[in-house]
Amino acid sequence: MQKLNLTITLETYNNDTELSVQENKLLNEARKATYKSYAPYSNFHVGAAILLDDDTIVMANNQENAAFPSGSCAEQSAIFWVGANYPERTIKSIAVIARPGKGDVFRGVSPCGACRQAMLEYEVRQKEPIRFIMLGANNQILVTESIGDLLPIKFTNF
Ligand code: THU
Repeated sequence: MQKLNLTITLETYNNDTELSVQENKLLNEARKATYKSYAPYSNFHVGAAILLDDDTIVMANNQENAAFPSGSCAEQSAIFWVGANYPERTIKSIAVIARPGKGDVFRGVSPCGACRQAMLEYEVRQKEPIRFIMLGANNQILVTESIGDLLPIKFTNF
């Protein structure tokens, strides 16, 4: 028996201003998107923003439902909107952030497995990596160079 170690690399930034101008803006759009979320059940407002190759930024948020599984995470709301409206564009980066409760305090959120799988499909389809931006501990910013990094031993059907 042998063991195979899989590793991923995260870029880390100490604050927003260390990001590129575009990605700083993207994270800010994700912050703004939290204020339009519909999350009366969890009170956990998540915002996602997607940067396209023509510099368009698309933002969305979580939309919950009384039948809990019928809700949609911010990442899936955003990426499906892009798929529906900009199928010819390439996605450069996705930023996600959460705002628990009613205040203006933000925290990091790491995407659920279903969102990782949904985002992966767009990355595989466009044949170019999508950068993924989120917050880590102490508001440090974490960036993966591709969605595939978030999903080791991934399932793809093509
Ligand atoms: N949620 C997201 O929108 N994105 C994530 O990455 C994790 C969780 C939502 C789902 C639900 O509306 C709320 O956060 C609490 O789990």
